[in-house]
Amino acid sequence: MSKFTLGWIAAAALLAAPLAQAQSTAKLKVGLMLPYTGTFAALGTAIENGFRLYVTEQGGKLAGREVEFVKVDDESDPAKATDNVNKLIKRDNVDVLVGTVHSGVAMAMAKVAKDSGTPLIVPNAGADAVTGPMCAPNIFRSSFSNWQPGYAMGEVVAKKGHKNVVTITWKYAAGDESVRGFKEAFEKGGGKVVKELSLPFPNVEFQALLTEIAAAKPDAVYTFFAGGGAVKFVKDYAAAGLKKTIPLYGAGFLTDGTLEAQGADADGLLTTLHYADSLGTPRDNAFRLAYAKSFKLQPDVYAVQGYDAAQMLGIGLAATKGDLSKKAEFAAALEKARIDSPRGAFTLSKGHNPVQDIYLRQVSGKENKLIGVASKALADPGRGCRM
Ligand code: BEZ
Repeated sequence: MSKFTLGWIAAAALLAAPLAQAQSTAKLKVGLMLPYTGTFAALGTAIENGFRLYVTEQGGKLAGREVEFVKVDDESDPAKATDNVNKLIKRDNVDVLVGTVHSGVAMAMAKVAKDSGTPLIVPNAGADAVTGPMCAPNIFRSSFSNWQPGYAMGEVVAKKGHKNVVTITWKYAAGDESVRGFKEAFEKGGGKVVKELSLPFPNVEFQALLTEIAAAKPDAVYTFFAGGGAVKFVKDYAAAGLKKTIPLYGAGFLTDGTLEAQGADADGLLTTLHYADSLGTPRDNAFRLAYAKSFKLQPDVYAVQGYDAAQMLGIGLAATKGDLSKKAEFAAALEKARIDSPRGAFTLSKGHNPVQDIYLRQVSGKENKLIGVASKALADPGRGCRM
């Protein structure tokens, strides 16, 4: 190498040094794409609260970078999703995307994230495809796959000796996949799903379907509903007189963040989820106390998932010293991480979905009380994920 070339390299390195420093201490723009209106509005707020709580606990910074938020209300509307996510990336120049609740919206986000390379952390939506066929090195989930709570409940209901089950849900990815997970385990355990009922999202006119359930007289019903729709479904199920005659089981979203509004109609319901209100671990107790102090509200599963999305971002950023262009190092750090969640520590599967305990819970008063672990360290099969 000539003296001239060596001199040029040294000069370039000197110039680059302050630049590299500036890059890793610049403000970190987090694009929060969540529902703030509609049936999932409360879920979006809980996720944002959880995310902010973790950032506040770190002094408002992740890996030395001050965090600033750009927010979009995605309205749980898949038709608006691609435009919304493109605005965050192209107009607002966000460094990282965090969203969302609705599976259909999340799939649109995942497509844009995959094409653009923007890091995406999904803090709720369980669309199996996001960590299945659409999996990518820059896409991570802090929540669950729709398959997971459904599969765990299928095992529980089969073990209870129920033989014929009717399912009822919204007709979209989350409902379909939750039922598919349930059916896979329930039929493996000797049961039969005799009827699959559904209505379009976010419709809550349940009456005709409840009449069909009463006529079919199954041993039990399995359901996926969440947010405002879950409140109405549980109340309508009880009002139709079905709660006394046909046991109702659900993915835990049926009774999470909804108990104030559901009141006694939810009492006794059994659900499966990766969180419960009474885990009683020091980690969860500290989280619940901090959350209640900050927001004057009890946390729910959505708050935990938001909190953990921020933790995951913090882990990736710490490994890259705040430099999100180091994509391979960011991913490697998360792939080997044990995330210290209030739900209990979890790791990520090859498709970047939590490998986690799924709890069996029972509603008692205003709480989803822990009954036991329905499925230990349950990993989504990640069908179709090639990475
Ligand atoms: C979903 O669309 O994936 C979803 C929405 C609310 C709760 C759980 C899952």
